[in-house]
Amino acid sequence: MLLNRKRRRAVIAGVVTVATAALGLGLSTQFASAQTTLRGAADGLNKDIGVAVSYNLLQNNAQYRNLVATEFNSLTAENAMKWDATEPSDGNYTFTQADAIVDFAEDNGQSVHGHTFVWHQQTPSWVQNLSGTALQTAMIEHINTVANRYEGRVASWDVVNEVVSDSNGAMRDSFWLRGLGEGYITTAFQTARAADPNADLYINDYSIEGDNAKSDRIYTIAQGLVNQGLLDGVGFQAHLILGQVPGDMEANLQRFVDLGLKVRITELDVRIQTPADAGELQQQANDYRRVAEICAELADCSGVTVWGVRDGDSWVPGVFPGYGAPLLFNDDLSKKPAYNAVLEALGGGGSGEPTTTPVTTSPPPTGSGCTATLSVQSPWNTGATYSGTVRANQNLTGWTVTWTWPGSERISNAWSLQGNLTGATVTGSNASYNGTVASGQTTTFGFNITKANGSTASVPTVTCTPA
Ligand code: G3I
Repeated sequence: MLLNRKRRRAVIAGVVTVATAALGLGLSTQFASAQTTLRGAADGLNKDIGVAVSYNLLQNNAQYRNLVATEFNSLTAENAMKWDATEPSDGNYTFTQADAIVDFAEDNGQSVHGHTFVWHQQTPSWVQNLSGTALQTAMIEHINTVANRYEGRVASWDVVNEVVSDSNGAMRDSFWLRGLGEGYITTAFQTARAADPNADLYINDYSIEGDNAKSDRIYTIAQGLVNQGLLDGVGFQAHLILGQVPGDMEANLQRFVDLGLKVRITELDVRIQTPADAGELQQQANDYRRVAEICAELADCSGVTVWGVRDGDSWVPGVFPGYGAPLLFNDDLSKKPAYNAVLEALGGGGSGEPTTTPVTTSPPPTGSGCTATLSVQSPWNTGATYSGTVRANQNLTGWTVTWTWPGSERISNAWSLQGNLTGATVTGSNASYNGTVASGQTTTFGFNITKANGSTASVPTVTCTPA
């Protein structure tokens, strides 16, 4: 049965409501049952959990196929929709692989994020050798043909990919820029909009997860496209290095949301120097958790797509020798710690009980002020991830929590919490988006600590004060 994205979500919305309050959204909801797959958890949040898929593996590996169908509600073709795959020579289109992926998605009630129309890589030399009007005509004709073919079947497109360079936010010096000037971006979006008016149109790039010169340039381009009604979202590829989720990632995504755009994590992986040890795999889980939490917390984040299924399938070792193990599954398809972290960040896993008390059953608030607790989510030898919960006993417009570590524990990075966080005594306040909490409701924050090797991650008593 063909289920497009909107239909799939309408079906699911009748089944599950989710503890979004536990994700810092301040909304009151409840679980119907445990969500034990990424897909089940993400469906409950009305978000995509996507994966980049290989045509060959979908064709030839039944276990891979089953896992993709079970765990993900959105697919991106890792290579099959790129120009070299779809139009290898002028006017000769080959859609066998792309069609098979879209058919698979429809058979399994999954949406498709299209990748990509205009890129400087994986574009055949016959295109790269064109210039001026001939190049523009080829681009328009290609976008029209591919977008028209999948109209109504592909929910969103990366219209342009990696158009900004890594150097001071300058435009990428590609054959597109040299042949057509910067206007090629607008032309590409105008063409895609006209070809499939209902698809969401994204600009996609890497190393723009934090606020930096490159993301600033993407922001400027996005503003221009928004003003022309041509852009719906920004794709943050998020090819990350272990332990390097930018501390300002959520705030950076928020500024694009503030332009009226969706945001999406389009190609998530976290690479590790191989061989990876247990501590590194745990750190990787924390990194994945954080990225998934950010998307869960932002109502306008459409989803998270991981760039491949098994570690052995990843592009990483080929491009970054000595690095690898960047995905959620081992080569035997067993789940890595990062899998559980993403599942939890999306509100699934555990007992299936909501991580906050459902509004329908919580006792009436008593007293005044607020109370706060900490819990250790995942410890490892030299660190741990904590979750904190603030409960409002009166209507709050802001809050401050404070505690003192009894031992060597020190916060290394935190989310949904700001202030003096790194010393023995921690004093942290709400972020811009989680300060308002209605009486009887809860909100959450989280952080990672470092600690002496082998020591216990303690759980200090927390004092909570309304702002
Ligand atoms: O299909 C040919 C095959 O016929 C040939 O025998 C083989 C020999 O090397 O190459 C095959 O093509 C490879 C293709 O993947 C399909 O497997 C290319 O060499 C290889 O370069 C290509 O790599 C892809 C890469 O994009 C190209 O730049 C990766 O799989 C893909 O994961 C990667 O994805 C990109 C995103 O599209 C954009 N963002 C960055 C991301 C990672 O680089």
